[in-house]
Amino acid sequence: MPDQVRHDEWSRMRLYPMLRSFAFALDAEAAHRATITVLKLRTGSGFTPEPDDAPTLQTTVAGLRFANPIGLAAGFDKDGEVPGQMLGLGFGFVEVGTVTPRPQAGNPRPRLFRLIEDQAVINRMGFNNEGQAAARARLARRERGSGPDAAYRTGLVGVNVGANKDSADRIADYVAGVEAMSPVADYLTINISSPNTPGLRGLQDEGALDELLAAVQQVRVDKPRSDASSGSQPAGPPIFLKVAPDLADGDAERMVRAAIDHKIDALIVSNTTVSRPPLKSRYADEPGGLSGAPLKPLALDALRQFRRASAGEIPLIGVGGIATAEDAWQRIRAGASLVQLYTAMVYEGPGIARRIAYGLSRKLHQDGFANIAEAVGSE
Ligand SMILES: Cc1cc2nc3c(=O)[nH]c(=O)nc-3n(C[C@H](O)[C@H](O)[C@H](O)COP(=O)(O)O)c2cc1C
Repeated sequence: MPDQVRHDEWSRMRLYPMLRSFAFALDAEAAHRATITVLKLRTGSGFTPEPDDAPTLQTTVAGLRFANPIGLAAGFDKDGEVPGQMLGLGFGFVEVGTVTPRPQAGNPRPRLFRLIEDQAVINRMGFNNEGQAAARARLARRERGSGPDAAYRTGLVGVNVGANKDSADRIADYVAGVEAMSPVADYLTINISSPNTPGLRGLQDEGALDELLAAVQQVRVDKPRSDASSGSQPAGPPIFLKVAPDLADGDAERMVRAAIDHKIDALIVSNTTVSRPPLKSRYADEPGGLSGAPLKPLALDALRQFRRASAGEIPLIGVGGIATAEDAWQRIRAGASLVQLYTAMVYEGPGIARRIAYGLSRKLHQDGFANIAEAVGSE
């Protein structure tokens, strides 16, 4: 069994509180860079290359088969440096990005803040990334299985695309992202919900969203798949749309309708919030997007609004403040076919994906569900 293996792994992972005190002594962005550097070293050993997930956790969404429903959210591995290592830590899928067509530096530092008392993070990174060509080259090496992480060629890797801050035509940037990244992505995410690129969330507004999604859909239709059997199916990987949790009345219904009309394959609910629920940390008033524990009720509420609006017509992916198997289970029962997390990994360490996977398989069993799909939306 796997049970014994898992427990041994966890005791190794209990090293994290010690590692964390080193990491937390560093500025948040330096700690993040150090983490990526260490992960890049760990290519040969130390990680289990293939998550030995319970078969009940396997699930199919948008035609993709996930080994488990727990994903790493966008923003941790912006440039596609360590997707294999993160899959090796037990995530069923990893979302690389946000990547923009051209490289960009992002906002001035400091731009990343740990709100320790609140188990939260505020970031205003502003899509710092090395550009799509760099990420594409890295992911292509991985695809061919010739890179140092060839051993980790299991699990799914999505790519989250965005627009450059100084772009004259943001819609064209998304179209370029879909074209550039399709060959190396299991799925693509159209990210119009980051609060740190001025005006970006405006693309969620009615006319703009229709125009954007029509343009994205057009690239897929214009490029039919080489295998003739695909018929009128859109070409390329499935496309997901990532939305903000800061919703006005009617927003969820409007976005669901636009997504379905334009054949979007799933909605990711949600990005960080610009709102500020009560917080204890001295960084509470830093501008940017808030993630982690204080986002949890808002993201859950947003998910429920999208579930009500869509009634199961389009798959939903729940993100925001998920830290435990209980949180993931609640999101699945509220309508999420998959979940993602980022901030809780900062506080709980790299064992979090496996802990949640293990807890979820127990919850399925206890509550009498045969698999994840059966539990989706069952609250
Ligand atoms: C430091 C940081 C950077 C992020 N960068 C991105 C990004 O580039 N693109 C994106 O779609 N979401 C980004 N996010 C948002 C996360 O993907 C996620 O939607 C959000 O943090 C809520 O999940 P969590 O509470 O589990 O962190 C970022 C989050 C953090 C904390």
